[in-house]
Amino acid sequence: MVMSQAAVSIRELHKQYGPIKALDGVSLEVNQGEIFGLLGPNGAGKTTTLRCLCTLERPDAGQLSVCGISVAADPRGVRKCLGYVAQEVALDKVLTARELLRLQADIHHLPAALARSRIREMLDLLGLTDRADDKIKTYSGGMMKRLDLAAGLVHAPRVLVLDEPTVGLDIQSRLSVWAFLRELRKRGTTILLTSHYLEEIDLLADRVAIIDRGKVIALGTVEELKQQVGGERVTLRIREFAPREEAERAAVILGELPFVREVIINSAQGNALNLVVASQDPIQTVTLVRETLQHAGLSVFGISQSRPSLDDVFLAATGQTLQDAELASANALPAKKKK
Ligand SMILES: Nc1ncnc2c1ncn2[C@@H]1O[C@H](COP(=O)(O)OP(=O)(O)O)[C@@H](O)[C@H]1O
Ligand SMILES: [Mg+2]
Repeated sequence: MVMSQAAVSIRELHKQYGPIKALDGVSLEVNQGEIFGLLGPNGAGKTTTLRCLCTLERPDAGQLSVCGISVAADPRGVRKCLGYVAQEVALDKVLTARELLRLQADIHHLPAALARSRIREMLDLLGLTDRADDKIKTYSGGMMKRLDLAAGLVHAPRVLVLDEPTVGLDIQSRLSVWAFLRELRKRGTTILLTSHYLEEIDLLADRVAIIDRGKVIALGTVEELKQQVGGERVTLRIREFAPREEAERAAVILGELPFVREVIINSAQGNALNLVVASQDPIQTVTLVRETLQHAGLSVFGISQSRPSLDDVFLAATGQTLQDAELASANALPAKKKK
């Protein structure tokens, strides 16, 4: 069987936990040398996808390959060519950074001289050299996360897989992780990362797949996805917290305007209306929308216009914002079992 030339190939991946369909046919390919972002709300299936890819979880169905190596046929080969950094930092805190990295190098059977130079390089690249011989328990959260990254990279994997690499970090640490990932890409490492931060994906990723309830609902470059949503976005409120019926009436009226492609009522935001408009003249659009509503006896409380964002992509594909989806999944799903 000829495996794909992509750095990572995922085809029709399925995984079920009891009644929960964690993955419902996920397919995507990561090209060599790119940063690929997997974006989705909590519970969407991001971690499960990565765990299947990194041989930590066995899928129910689907084909997976990394660097052209089949995950099912040669898991050891796959582990050699990829580095995985899990969401939660799990470091042995009584060790020093250098000791921990040496242990990691041993696990990967790196020859001693190579290990020493790789460790020096990683410590340097991640700004940990000064503290390399201090115990990890004396580190800040940001330093621990950087060390965790270093541990995933000691064996110089061609593909780096990161699960929510900056969750819980302060802005300074996030910036330094982002800079580091860009530097790695420059050196030719392929990076697959998950995030539920829109801005992180927007800033870092060459291409993105948006995943929701175990399915890929959009895939492409960030620009492509924004263009697919199309046109300009107009967000307006009739009243600060308008009743749903009023918003619905406004939605029907606005939906009949020739340049309005789509109207979505955002219930989590006081029944604000999100319009996708095809018009090239945003100022004129806003005026027309305002006049149309006034004519129908609905006054406009506030109106704003913007370029589409990744959140609009999510909204267009699912009918809710990423934030709403987070809340819904937090309320609807049973607590995740720790293994
Ligand atoms: N080991 C497990 N046992 C039971 N359910 C799980 C397990 N791992 C994940 N799930 C469920 O699968 C779904 C996807 O989870 P996950 O992949 O962790 O999502 P994400 O990383 O996008 O937040 C969730 O509904 C989660 O509760
Ligand atoms: Mg996760």
